[in-house]
Order: sequence, then C-alpha cells, then structure tokens
Amino acid sequence: MKLSSALLLLTSAVLGVRPSSAQGEPKYLEVGTTLTLEPDVSTVPRPINSIRWKYGTALVVDWDPSGHTYYGSFKGRTTLDPQTLRLDINRLTLADSGQFSLETNLGTVGSHEVNVIKPPPTPSIKTQTLCNVSCDLKCTADTQDLGPVSYEWKEDEGKWTEGDTLKNISSSDTPEKLFCRLKTRVRTSNTSLPMENPLYKPPGAATEGGAVAGPTSSPGVTEDGTRGAVTEGGAVAGPTSSPGVTEDGRRGELI
Ligand SMILES: *[C@@H]1O[C@H](CO)[C@@H](O)[C@H](O)[C@H]1NC(C)=O
Ligand SMILES: *[C@@H]1O[C@H](CO)[C@@H](O)[C@H](O)[C@H]1NC(C)=O
Ligand SMILES: *[C@@H]1O[C@H](CO)[C@@H](O)[C@H](O)[C@H]1NC(C)=O
Repeated sequence: MKLSSALLLLTSAVLGVRPSSAQGEPKYLEVGTTLTLEPDVSTVPRPINSIRWKYGTALVVDWDPSGHTYYGSFKGRTTLDPQTLRLDINRLTLADSGQFSLETNLGTVGSHEVNVIKPPPTPSIKTQTLCNVSCDLKCTADTQDLGPVSYEWKEDEGKWTEGDTLKNISSSDTPEKLFCRLKTRVRTSNTSLPMENPLYKPPGAATEGGAVAGPTSSPGVTEDGTRGAVTEGGAVAGPTSSPGVTEDGRRGELI
C-alpha cells in the first residue's frame, strides 16, 4: 500500500510537469457505468474540422461537419459532443477496457487507459493452516477482473487497518472475532462474515487450572490473595483496571 501510494504520487508528479496532451492516470470504472472522457478543450489547437475517438486502433466515433458516425459495439451507447470533444460511453463492459485516444484534423490530442472492472465481491476468511500457536488467515474472494485490490482487517470492534490477503495471528493476539474486506480502485467491498478466532481463549478459562501469575503482575495483585478466586461473574480480578476486565467479566458470565 505504501508502494502504490508512492507510485501514485510519483505518477502525479510526473504528469504535473508534462504537457496537457500527456496520458492521464488509468481510469477504473465498474461494469454497467458510464465512461466520460473530456479533454481540456482550451489546449486543443483549432480550427477543428474533424474529430476521431479511437479504441486501440479501432474507431469509436468520428465526426466532421456533416455529422457523426459511431462504430461497432459503441453504436447506440456513445455520445460525442463536437463542441467540447467530450465522449460518453454508457453501459460499460469488461471488453471496453483499453486505450482510448482522441485525434483531430490537427493531430493527436491524447489518450486514456480505461479499466473496466467488476464490483467487489464480499470476501470470506479461511484458515490456511492448522491453528495452534499461530495461524494464517486468508481473506479470499474471486479477484478476477477486479484490477488491483487491497485488503483491510478488523479485530472485534477495532479500526480497519490495511493489510495483506494473509493475516498471521498468534496466540498472543486476543481478538475474539476477525473481519476482512477488500478494496478495488473504485470502492470497498462489503465486510466478510466474522471469523471466530481459533486461537481465542476466554480470559476466564485461563484461570480454571489455577493459572500462574505472569512475571509482570503488580505486587499489589500478588499480595491481595484473591487471585484464583473466582468472582460471581466467573472472572478473576485482573492486575490492571483496564476496560478489558469489565469485558472479561461479562464474557465470564456467558461461559
Ligand atoms: C453488500 O451489502 C448490500 C447491503 O446489505 C447488499 O445489498 C449487497 O448485495 C451486498 N453486496 C454483495 C456483493 O454481497
Ligand atoms: C500444537 O499443539 C499440540 C498439542 O497441544 C502440541 O503438541 C504442539 O507442540 C503444538 N504446536 C505445534 C506446532 O503443533
Ligand atoms: C506466523 O507467525 C508465527 C509467530 O509469530 C510464526 O512462527 C509463523 O511462521 C508465521 N507464519 C507465517 C506463514 O508467516
């Protein structure tokens, strides 16, 4: 993610110093939506007697003062405004991905890379290995025809954080549930169903066998003599008064 933002910055920087005819950043659009390509008409030499939008080497539309001609699969869903040179193509399909370029009687104006992608599917989380001390979780989805995707993970009620398709959790992680979602260049998917953390241990259970206090427990707790004694909620008094204790207590009631 750092790399891609760096690339994006680099790309914008490069584009910033290039003349207006330069190719813009690749555009990403979803199937079924409308592509609009609108050159900065003030930079286009005049007088314009003919306009031609091309898709690769094929024609999308050409125009001269006698009228428009639309071509092939673009017929019936495309509009060229000869005043602004703006091209609109409706009902995009995956097959519309490619290079669109604009020429007038005075030469090439510029080109645009267009990527038509599918809407992001809702991913699911799979465990890749037997989970013991650590565990690899994978955020899975059919990523074909999505273009570049990135992943985000969330633990319990925490914040979404960027990550990889794989997430390595270990028994020192404490979330009870994990969630993932994916992002295309167009938007963010729905959230996966929650994954129960296979390594999650309810805090109450740890004390069942008379767990030994960690070496970092505060002296106060060691001396108070109540450790190991189960409270009515089933929770053990913790060494700290963090909000987690309350949550643990609640959880203990459920077990
Ligand atoms: C995402 O959630 C919305 C609202 O619940 C639902 O309408 C839509 O179908 C979901 N999208 C996918 C890809 O499951
Ligand atoms: C996983 O758990 C088993 C059984 O508790 C244990 O014998 C083993 O050392 C643990 N680690 C691995 C990598 O299997
Ligand atoms: C996951 O993390 C554990 C400990 O942090 C490590 O031993 C294990 O090799 C990691 N697994 C992978 C696939 O990186």
